[in-house]
Amino acid sequence: MSDDDLDRRAIEILRGNDRGGYTVPTHGLYPFQWNWDSAFVALGLAVFDQARAWQELETLASAQWPDGMFPHIVFHVEDEGYFPGPEQWGTNATPPTSGYSNPPVLASSVRRLVSLGGAASHERARSLFPKMLRWHRWLHARRDPQGLGVLAVAHPWESGRDNLPDWDASLASIDTSRVGEYRRRDTSHVDSAMRPKKRDYDAYMALVAYGRECGWEPEAMARGPFLVADVGMTLIGLRADRDLLWLAHALGEGAAVAEIESWIDGAEQGLERLWNADVQAYCNLDLRTGARGGGVSSAAFLACGARAGAPHHAALLAHFERIGAHARYCVPSYDPAHPDFDALRYWRGPVWAVVNFQVAGELAAGGYAEQAKRVRSDTRELIRNAGFFEYFCPLTGRGAGGGEFSWTAAMWLAWASPNAPPELAAPTPGEHPG
Ligand code: GLC
Repeated sequence: MSDDDLDRRAIEILRGNDRGGYTVPTHGLYPFQWNWDSAFVALGLAVFDQARAWQELETLASAQWPDGMFPHIVFHVEDEGYFPGPEQWGTNATPPTSGYSNPPVLASSVRRLVSLGGAASHERARSLFPKMLRWHRWLHARRDPQGLGVLAVAHPWESGRDNLPDWDASLASIDTSRVGEYRRRDTSHVDSAMRPKKRDYDAYMALVAYGRECGWEPEAMARGPFLVADVGMTLIGLRADRDLLWLAHALGEGAAVAEIESWIDGAEQGLERLWNADVQAYCNLDLRTGARGGGVSSAAFLACGARAGAPHHAALLAHFERIGAHARYCVPSYDPAHPDFDALRYWRGPVWAVVNFQVAGELAAGGYAEQAKRVRSDTRELIRNAGFFEYFCPLTGRGAGGGEFSWTAAMWLAWASPNAPPELAAPTPGEHPG
């Protein structure tokens, strides 16, 4: 297929996964609206239909909880093909939702849509602004209860990087004796060798039961069996705060500036807590036990655009070179030299286009243009050779997981395609607009 054909195919996939106001990640495996997926999908939609791109984000925002939380799944319809559904979550939200949040990509997508222009963009961004502000406030209060300047997750699903090896030790201590029988649906859509193992799934379900039993009350969640400061959440959150600050200036929301700046300062000071000197990378940190993740995940490279990460950029770039020499395609979700690396199993090795998009953006923001270019051209090759899969093998380029995947199609249109508009991929401008 030519690149023009791939552009057309990507548009067809996004149209085919459109359920009217929101886009499902893929048919079958993920039949609802997912939070960070929609934020990426909006960028792809913006390439051919800006009004629909805004609507994607507005539909997501319509599921915000009264306390400010943006949930990670919105169950707009009933669908037996997915587990756990609204009954297991028991959140009593309208529309029904899950009980965890997701990396806050939304503000960064809004900033990019505003940069793209379009007649109504300021107006639509302005109506989303207070909702984003309240969500970020929720994240800093509820997922950083000790004010450490790092963002934690109360479930691996909250991070979006569900099956990362860094969760293993924290999940191992979770009591799964009360979980009982349940029927997974994911393994009826996708080869079980690519999906989490049963023991992991039992722990996931034990955590969902904990949340449900304490009514998803945030203080109880922070005291719960799982609270792990996450490199992805922290660095995506830092970028999102910078983008929200940019928006505050651009939209005349001056009253929010000091608060957003205080979050940015906090994260710049807190980031060092995630540095693992043994691994020479940023790794997750279990806030209950103090244990650190022990490998280089793709999220560590998100620090390459952070000023606070500057003392460690050389060490991170050395990992990038080493991993890039080992893996044909960057960026593997986990270090191929680590014993827990698994080339095709979910977040334990495969490459994701959305992570590559963010890593390339941070590399570019840090001035590492050559590395950013490699990440983009690898993503382009993966999609050209394999198609719009959920994720890809970093060693062979084989596509895996779900097919006709919305966020992969969106990342092609907004970034990896040679025809992508540069405004959508540009990192936060250093100066806020006058
Ligand atoms: C998987 C991924 C998660 C994503 C979801 C929908 O659960 O781990 O990051 O949001 O699929 O695509």
